[in-house]
Amino acid sequence: MKDTVVALPDTLGDDLREEGKRSELEFWKNYINSSPFLKYWCEEDINPELDLEIDIFIKGVGHMLNALGRRIDVLDAGSGPGSILSHAFDQIDASLVATDPLADEYDELWQNEVCKKRVCRPVVCAGEDLAAKFGPRAFDVCHIRNALDHTANPIIVIQQFIHVTRPKGFIVIQGFENEATKMNWTGFHQWNIHCEDNDMVITGKSGTQYGIKHQFRGVVKILRAWSKKHNSGMPWCGAIIQVL
Ligand SMILES: C[S@@+](CC[C@H](N)C(=O)[O-])C[C@H]1O[C@@H](n2cnc3c(N)ncnc32)[C@H](O)[C@@H]1O
Repeated sequence: MKDTVVALPDTLGDDLREEGKRSELEFWKNYINSSPFLKYWCEEDINPELDLEIDIFIKGVGHMLNALGRRIDVLDAGSGPGSILSHAFDQIDASLVATDPLADEYDELWQNEVCKKRVCRPVVCAGEDLAAKFGPRAFDVCHIRNALDHTANPIIVIQQFIHVTRPKGFIVIQGFENEATKMNWTGFHQWNIHCEDNDMVITGKSGTQYGIKHQFRGVVKILRAWSKKHNSGMPWCGAIIQVL
């Protein structure tokens, strides 16, 4: 990895964010009422879009905490209209909170009221504002799927995750590799992510790279970062990170 810096990247400007919001809502207006979404998010016990290893990992943490007499507290940030983790905690004592800055707009898009009631819907909160909303050490697991690279400042979002995650708790990140390049740096697609050397690396349009392992040395441990193919065939990457 080249040019790791410790400084924060600039937060994206409002013009890009507005364009991103418009196209994101345009996408969800159709997808939220499509048969794959209704089937996977509302009808299936296990959402087939959720990565197997992440499903098993979070369930495992839940069972361990339950065995110790504790509930597992999970955050799904940038969840979209309904959390992909909505039905992941069958027979596990768990509390799931979903957040998304577009939560109010998403609420208006639902046409299927049965499905709307079955999923865990987000409360309004950007990833950059999680600490103010939830306070320190609120969650055992903070999960973000296909959304870290949609934020205005992904390094601030990771700082916020670290703040709201309990010590020895976990941050779970996954998403398409280098989607900003693929989407030609339009709208919400202003950051690339990829994994190398057991680290997740975030790259801005200027080319500056921010490796999580280097940025947050001594604060987090990367348990595992990986690349693989998403079931769409596109490159996908993920990381499971422990807060020290
Ligand atoms: C491609 S969707 C992914 C939704 C869901 N996580 C999934 O995997 O289906 C990206 C989401 O990131 C959200 N997002 C945009 N800016 C964000 C921010 N600053 N903090 C958290 N989420 C954000 C968008 O509103 C959108 O719902």
